[in-house]
Amino acid sequence: MEFKNVLFEKEGKIAIVTINRPKALNALNTETLKELNCVLDVLEQDDDIYAVILTGAGGKAFIAGADITEMKDFNTIEGRKFSVLGNKVFRRFETLEKPVIAAIPGFALGGGCELSMACDIRIASEKAKFGQPEVGLGITPGFGGTQRLARLVGDGRAKEIIYTSRIVKADEAYSIGLVNKVVAPENLMDEAKKMANLIASQAPIAIKFSKIAITRGKQCDIDTALMYEAEVFGECFSTEDQKEGMNAFVEKRDKNFKNK
Ligand code: CAA
Repeated sequence: MEFKNVLFEKEGKIAIVTINRPKALNALNTETLKELNCVLDVLEQDDDIYAVILTGAGGKAFIAGADITEMKDFNTIEGRKFSVLGNKVFRRFETLEKPVIAAIPGFALGGGCELSMACDIRIASEKAKFGQPEVGLGITPGFGGTQRLARLVGDGRAKEIIYTSRIVKADEAYSIGLVNKVVAPENLMDEAKKMANLIASQAPIAIKFSKIAITRGKQCDIDTALMYEAEVFGECFSTEDQKEGMNAFVEKRDKNFKNK
């Protein structure tokens, strides 16, 4: 599949999606967001993809934010439309029924930090730098940053990071729970692939249901959320992979999941 600003590759059961505008530090413009939307159609429909890695090209940035050159002359309607598009695409990653790992080589600012937060898991290079610098540009975060940052790191920390526009380095990002893991820059993609392959070796439907229960459950009261959990738990017993996983355990043999 060929796009102007996005690379799409498959390695076994893993899809690797790379934002590829290194000259603009992979800044997200409308065209790139629309391309990501098309990539999501493929990720949704391809049953042989069990896990996704999302990264940025060039080694210096994951994504340095929404494209400031495109936004600078927006009027109210264009600003709202841009935010709606970004939020739609990011929400599709967040609700994609497959796990998405953000592999973050460098800057993850504004829309970049926001896209990483819509992923399930974040692995950062030691060189990664996070931040929501929007208020320094006279705008608010517009691709989910006012919502997901507080959910991940708590209101107080999120407000401080957004109000000050300051950079959060990888070690701090780890200590506040913004990223799952920090690795040496040269190991970033290997670590992301290792984790993606470990995930891909589990039962894919069970992972899908786990993601649905976690993502939907967070939006509900605990009783409704636990009902979701019971629903998906029960549903697992209608799958061949549940029989395979448990029989393999009992028979002390390797399991062979089929996504069925
Ligand atoms: N939009 C458009 N172009 C960008 C960009 C962005 N967000 N970030 C970087 N670029 C471009 C630069 O303009 C520059 O292009 P030219 O070579 O044509 O001048 C190129 O990428 C390289 O960037 P720098 O020369 O600035 O590189 P640096 O190493 O000196 O600085 C940086 C790196 C600190 C990340 C700096 O580029 C920067 O501050 N970028 C903007 C970060 C930002 O404010 N992001 C938030 C955007 S708003 C947003 O995302 C809103 C939202 O929530 C939806």
